[in-house]
Amino acid sequence: MTDFPLVISIANRKGGTGKTTTAVNLAAEMAALSIRTLLIDIDTQNHASLGLGLAQADFNAPTAHSVLRSGDATIESAIRETPWRNLAFVPPDPLFDDRDALDDFGMLDRALRQVGIARRFDLIIVDTPSSLGIALMNGLACADGLLVPIVPHSLALDGSLQLMRFIFRMALLKASGLAHTAILPMMFDDRTALHTEILDQARATHGADKILRGIRTDLHLIEAFGAGKPSRHHAPRSRGTGDYHALAKYLRDNWLPPNIQDRTIATTDDSKYTERLKQICRKNINDANR
Ligand SMILES: Nc1ncnc2c1ncn2[C@@H]1O[C@H](COP(=O)(O)OP(=O)(O)OP(=O)(O)O)[C@@H](O)[C@H]1O
Ligand SMILES: [Mg+2]
Repeated sequence: MTDFPLVISIANRKGGTGKTTTAVNLAAEMAALSIRTLLIDIDTQNHASLGLGLAQADFNAPTAHSVLRSGDATIESAIRETPWRNLAFVPPDPLFDDRDALDDFGMLDRALRQVGIARRFDLIIVDTPSSLGIALMNGLACADGLLVPIVPHSLALDGSLQLMRFIFRMALLKASGLAHTAILPMMFDDRTALHTEILDQARATHGADKILRGIRTDLHLIEAFGAGKPSRHHAPRSRGTGDYHALAKYLRDNWLPPNIQDRTIATTDDSKYTERLKQICRKNINDANR
């Protein structure tokens, strides 16, 4: 059986909550953990390319939107390499219009569940637009996991909770394979009473495991974006890099399947790997003694 990569979509109907910043930096951190990562941008604003410092490709080159236009197009033909190991990128088409698309929410999902993609990648991260349209619906429908970045002030939370309710309904329908959902607090300050209060309220409503530790405000993230590099390659010791590194490890350990965890932990985190090996050995010895 083919193991398809885990697909994590990053979405929020509200604009400017840190979706693209998260897509670029999470993808870079995952790649640094030896997880073969494909970042797909389906937002016509084309901002992820800027964050990766990639110039606009040839005007006629295939894009992520090619698969929304035609059932025959493939994602594979739109993949571009980046300067960083284990990290590849699929750009959007800035000229895409919903009227160009087929009326089908499953196009991206089908384009991703291909053996050629499965051989090359462990993880796919999809950066989605804020506007509700065919691209966002395709970005939600292909997701195994959904991250919703929110800025914790009450208005932002209102819009995000609406999206979460919508997503939970989708997950309940079982039509989508959505296995994980979580809110990612963005640009928060744990010394601000209002932020703490709102996040506590969100934990009480959705469960503590649905509210991740989040990404604190850090101007290095803005600087890195301007320099066309993921933060770990621009300001490796910054708070933003540290927060995204912690997020990547959390998602690796809690969302990615065990076969990928084991392989990547083996190459990146010796102490944890040794502990895991010890557990496996102990289990084998116990089984043998039974
Ligand atoms: N943790 C952070 N600290 C400081 N600034 C941040 C942080 N996260 C994001 N920003 C800044 O907030 C702005 C919006 O972020 P970003 O473009 O990632 O949001 P978005 O949700 O992708 O927006 P859009 O809806 O337009 O696609 C950017 O200027 C970005 O640099
Ligand atoms: Mg964006």
